[in-house]
Amino acid sequence: MIAAYQAQCQARADAALTDLLVAPYAELERLYQAMRYSVVNGGKRIRPLLVYAACEALGGHAAQADGAACAVELIHAYSLVHDDLPAMDDDDLRRGQPTTHKAFDEACAILAGDGLQTLAFEVLADGQRNPQDADTRLRMLSCLSRAAGPAGMVGGQAIDLDSVGHKLDQTALELMHRHKTGALIEASVSLGALASGKADSATLAALATYAQAIGLAFQVQDDILDVESDTATLGKRQGADIARDKPTYPALLGLDAAKAYALELRDQALAALQGFNASAEPLRALARFIVERRS
Ligand code: IPE
Ligand code: IPE
Ligand code: MG
Ligand code: MG
Ligand code: MG
Repeated sequence: MIAAYQAQCQARADAALTDLLVAPYAELERLYQAMRYSVVNGGKRIRPLLVYAACEALGGHAAQADGAACAVELIHAYSLVHDDLPAMDDDDLRRGQPTTHKAFDEACAILAGDGLQTLAFEVLADGQRNPQDADTRLRMLSCLSRAAGPAGMVGGQAIDLDSVGHKLDQTALELMHRHKTGALIEASVSLGALASGKADSATLAALATYAQAIGLAFQVQDDILDVESDTATLGKRQGADIARDKPTYPALLGLDAAKAYALELRDQALAALQGFNASAEPLRALARFIVERRS
């Protein structure tokens, strides 16, 4: 079920993203080519999926959520382009292809990331691409900018880089994971709920509990896969965290305890959805997928 839903959301998000990444003039073609290379390249599209699934769980339609789905994926893609740069994780492989700075050059990768990031906010602000009333668009902009910024993903990346080679305790590791990965996953769920036009504060709170649990589980599983998957399956270099002495859950707790923790977080996420009906089934399936995925 999740595979079919995923394929459907992937196709929908890919079409909307491709539409956004057309160079307006020939002079900008190389920049847009680098942006397309970084986005339209077979990502799992988990964050757009969460946007669509949260919107539909509240009785909204996918068409209401296209702008938000694009916006979260643009931020995610930018974060990966910059994460892979030599000054950060210095990775050569992403989604089975050379990373953007390898396929183009470093300056072009930095600018492609900058362009993807700013385009995300342009899309959310645009009433055509994000068909909500102005108040809702403002709430969505504030939600995504907080999640992507220094108190969210960027802050998490800063903690990550400052922590290389240090031993973090579980509280510090959790703080890092909640920022670098959890914040954008939480924002994806909130934006989908806001896009439905039917989000009351109790529903938003239950969805936030769900999203916090899967957001942390997602990065715990990413750390687990760095240990036990392989480069071909992952599409990025297996063992990169270990080679770089990155603080991770398996490094802190051991592999078995990290796996048990991921399952516990999945159960917390499912419990948060207890009051939801069958239209929340894609959200439930996603919670399971996040800890079962192999790439
Ligand atoms: C990888 O994210 C980076 C993390 C935040 C852990 P994904 O596993 O969602 O990557 P893609 O988009 O499918 O390539
Ligand atoms: C990256 O975390 C998270 C963000 C890009 C915000 P990782 O550095 O663990 O992601 P991968 O493993 O390179 O995909
Ligand atoms: Mg990193
Ligand atoms: Mg990385
Ligand atoms: Mg990783």
